[in-house]
Amino acid sequence: MEKLVVKGPTPLKGEVTISGAKNAAVAILPATLLIDGVCTIENLPNISDIKIYCTILEKLGAKITWNNEHSITIDTSNITTTKAPLDLTSKFRASYYMIGAMLSRKGEIEVGMPGGCKLGARPIDQHIKGFELLGANVTVEKGKIYAKAKKLKGCPIYMDIVSVGATINVMLSAVLAKGTTIIDNAAKEPHIVDVANFLNTMGADIRGAGTDVIKINGVEKLKGNATYSVVPDQIEAGTFMLAAVATRGDLLIKNCITKHLESITAKIIEIGGNVEDNGDSIRVWCTKRPNRATIKTLPYPGFPTDLQPQMGVVLSLANGTSTINESIWDSRFQYTEELNKMGAKITAHGKTAFFEGVKKLYGAPVYSSDLRAGAALVIAGTAAEGETEIYNLEHIDRGYENIEEKFRKIGAKIERVTE
Ligand code: EPU
Repeated sequence: MEKLVVKGPTPLKGEVTISGAKNAAVAILPATLLIDGVCTIENLPNISDIKIYCTILEKLGAKITWNNEHSITIDTSNITTTKAPLDLTSKFRASYYMIGAMLSRKGEIEVGMPGGCKLGARPIDQHIKGFELLGANVTVEKGKIYAKAKKLKGCPIYMDIVSVGATINVMLSAVLAKGTTIIDNAAKEPHIVDVANFLNTMGADIRGAGTDVIKINGVEKLKGNATYSVVPDQIEAGTFMLAAVATRGDLLIKNCITKHLESITAKIIEIGGNVEDNGDSIRVWCTKRPNRATIKTLPYPGFPTDLQPQMGVVLSLANGTSTINESIWDSRFQYTEELNKMGAKITAHGKTAFFEGVKKLYGAPVYSSDLRAGAALVIAGTAAEGETEIYNLEHIDRGYENIEEKFRKIGAKIERVTE
């Protein structure tokens, strides 16, 4: 078993470079199934979710050449099966994008129910509603999803809930459909724009991504034959911004799009931190104990749920009592029990948690319940006095590239140890 051992407190200082966005990359990889040919993807994050996705695509018949650890050339001209490997697809959430992509490309798909972080109920009714409106037949049975369609036909689709996954999945299924699809009440996250940009680069006709109405004019074929670079990871950048504040450090975060970070920047300034926005890099520093705050997570451009646990560490150490209201997931406060082991004073009731700020956190053995909880514990361990041992690293490795190396380069005393 592996664990991370962190010795603190260390104010994080120096420069860190942000990798490609996990949640864009895990949609762009299945989107290559829409291309009857070859394309190159660059700036892929070197994380386990990407490696698993590449293996799944290879099992479907795609040929992948690794140009380096962040770039692949993929040939999807010969897709030989419509059955995705169940053991792999149930390992993570984004396997559901194969439904939209394969319905478009092959008119059929059998895939395991998606896995991913356990954050409470994660229904996919809006995905299914979208596929059915486009003309597909979808059955969910014995842990598997079967979807079939002769020729999908574009139509208006109103999303009852703002959903990242459903917006991308319906977009994937509409790209090769006959006629026009209009997704109303679409999600607006940067990775939705990135997937649309990728598809348009390959020959799709998608307009309005990044607004709440996306119009997709179906095309006959995606020609591919192009190179696309994945957008920088907004959540990884936000994780380091909050790490700078929690440890009272000074970080220059490079290779990010600061426009995507506005809700985090605003909160950091509100609690007394400092931010210098350079467009493609951002400097964050904090010299005093942060002030209390009230946070409500919301779909983009609101404060992202995927930075809620990292912000929870900052507020655990703030002056006064803070409140976080989690409006996206039912169970995203599991990390608070771990922070309490480190001396935090947090009470969570349902989707609201109260953080009575303490002056110091202390090292303790802690368990990562999900990906972002794991990142929060790394930040907490760096800010805390003494030694913190973090277990369940498979969650962190799914979504953060070389987390300990990146933290070490900015001063953290962190080691991966095999027990
Ligand atoms: N929802 C439904 N029905 C649906 C789809 C969603 O009720 O058909 C609800 C969900 O239960 C949730 C809300 O709508 O309450 C939003 O869910 P969404 O579909 O937007 O989430 P997702 O696509 O499953 C993605 C990210 C998550 C991130 C959320 C919210 C990927 C692979 N995952 O999940 O990322 O928290 O959007 O921004 O893109 C992470 O990276 O750590 C992570 C969990």
